Amino acid sequence: MSHVSFSAIILAAGKGNRMLSDVPKPLHQIGGKCILQHLIDSVAQTGVQRIYIVYGYKGEAIMEKINTDRYKVPVHWIFQHELVGTGNAAQRALSIISDSEEILFLYGDVPFVSYRTLQRLHTIKSQCDISMLTAILSNPNGYGRIIRNQKGNVINIIEHDDMINDDHKKIKEVNTGIFIAISGNLKRWLDSLTIHRSKDEFYLTDVIQIAHQSGYSINTIHPYDTFEIMGVNSKSDLVSLDRQYQQRQAQRLLSSGVTISDPNRFDLRGTLVCGKDVYIDVNVIIEGNVSLGNRVKVGANCILKDTVIEDDVVIYPFSIVENAKISIQSNIGPFVRLRPGTELKENSHVGNFVEIKNTQLGKQSKVRHLSYLGDAEIGAQVNIGAGTIICNYDGINKHHTVIGDGVFIGADSQLVAPVTVGKNATIGAGTTVTQDVPAGETIISRIRQFSILNWKRSKNKK
Ligand code: UD1
Ligand code: MG
Repeated sequence: MSHVSFSAIILAAGKGNRMLSDVPKPLHQIGGKCILQHLIDSVAQTGVQRIYIVYGYKGEAIMEKINTDRYKVPVHWIFQHELVGTGNAAQRALSIISDSEEILFLYGDVPFVSYRTLQRLHTIKSQCDISMLTAILSNPNGYGRIIRNQKGNVINIIEHDDMINDDHKKIKEVNTGIFIAISGNLKRWLDSLTIHRSKDEFYLTDVIQIAHQSGYSINTIHPYDTFEIMGVNSKSDLVSLDRQYQQRQAQRLLSSGVTISDPNRFDLRGTLVCGKDVYIDVNVIIEGNVSLGNRVKVGANCILKDTVIEDDVVIYPFSIVENAKISIQSNIGPFVRLRPGTELKENSHVGNFVEIKNTQLGKQSKVRHLSYLGDAEIGAQVNIGAGTIICNYDGINKHHTVIGDGVFIGADSQLVAPVTVGKNATIGAGTTVTQDVPAGETIISRIRQFSILNWKRSKNKK
C-alpha cells in the first residue's frame, strides 16, 4: 500500500428512476440488507482512511437507515444539490478533499465488489495514473463500453444509450464505475467536462477520455467474478442479483457441511450459524441471526427469524418461528407459530396449529394440537390437550399464567389469566379455569351430560 492518503467516494445520490419506486435505490435490499450497506461493508475492509458518500434523492432516509457506526473507518456524507450526473456528484465530493489523496470511486448501486478485487486495483495503481476495474459480460446491455485503441489502451467510455456505432455495441468489455486516481488530477479532468444534452448530465466516465488525451496512463484489471460488478438499475436487476447472492450463500453453507436440499429455493436474509449435519429443506427463509445446532432438521416452507435452535431439534414444514429458543431434542410443527419470547425446554413437543407467545414450555411437555399459549410459564412433563386456550388478554391488559410440573389439561379447556395451576393437577376436558387450582387436585367445570326427553329436530318442509 502506498503512503498517500487513500479514500473512497461512493456515488449514491441518483433517483433510481428505472426502479419505479418511492424507496431510494441505495435502500433496496438484497439478502435482507440495503445494497449501499453491502457495498460499504466491502469498502470498509480495503484499508481506505475515509469513506465519502454522495447523497441526494431522499438523503435523510438513507442516512437514517444506513448504519455507519459499525465501521472503524469514518464515513462522511456529502449532499449533491442538483442531480445532474455522476460527473457532478464526483465534483461535489472532491471539493472537500485535498489534491494529494488517492481516490477509489464506486457507484452505490454496485453492491458486491469484493475487497480482494479492490485491493488488487489499489496495488496496480502504483504503476499508472488511473487503475480501472472493467469486466467482460456476455450481455453488456445497459453498461458503458470500454473503447480501446489499436495498442489496446483504454481511450474512452461510451454509454450504452449514446452508442451510434454498431461496432461499439458489439464491445463486451464494460465500465464497472470502479477506478482509482489522484484527487488533484480528477478535479482538473472534471473541470473540463461538458454536459450530455441527451440526458442533461455530466458523466464521470468522460474523465477517461480527457485523461487519455492529456497523456495519463490507464491500466485495467477484471474482478475475480462478474457477480462483483453487477449494478442494480431495475427491479429485474435487483431480484436477479438477489438470486445470485442467495445461490452463493447456499453454496457457502453447503461447503461448510450443511445440506441445503435445493440452493435455488433457499433464502438467508441475515446470518446463519450451523452445527454439523444440519438439513434444510426447500423454501426455508432465515432472517436476522439464527443458529441451528447439530443434526437440526428444518422442514420445507419454514421461516426462522432471530432464533436459537439447539441440537437434534426437528422443525416440521410450514412453521414460523421468531425470537424464540428451542432446546435440544424438541420438535415442532407442522404449522406451528412461535412468537417472540417463546422458550421450549428440552425434549418438548409442539404440534400442528399451535401458537405460542412469551411463554416457557418445560422439559418433556407437550402441546400437540390447536392451542394458543400466551404469557405463561409451564413446567415439565405437562400435557396440554387439543384446543386449549390461555385467555391472557382482558381487552386492556395481558395477564400471566403459571402451570406447574406434571399438570394434565384436558382438551378444549380455557385458562382465564391470571391463574395458577399447581403441580400435578388435572383439568377435565372442556373446563374453563377461572380460579387457581391447588397442586394435585382434579377439577372440571363442564356441565354433566343429561338426556333431553322428547326433543325433536326440526324437519325439512319438503
Ligand atoms: C453508470 C456508468 C456506466 C457504468 C454503470 C455501471 C455513468 C455516466 N455511467 O451507468 O458507464 O457501466 O454505471 O454500473 O457514470 N448518481 C449520483 N448523482 C447523479 C447521478 C447518479 O450520485 O447525479 C449515482 C447513482 O445514485 C448511482 C451511480 O451514481 O449510484 C450510477 O448512476 P446510474 O444512474 O445508476 O448510472 P448507470 O446508468 O448505471
Ligand atoms: Mg447504475
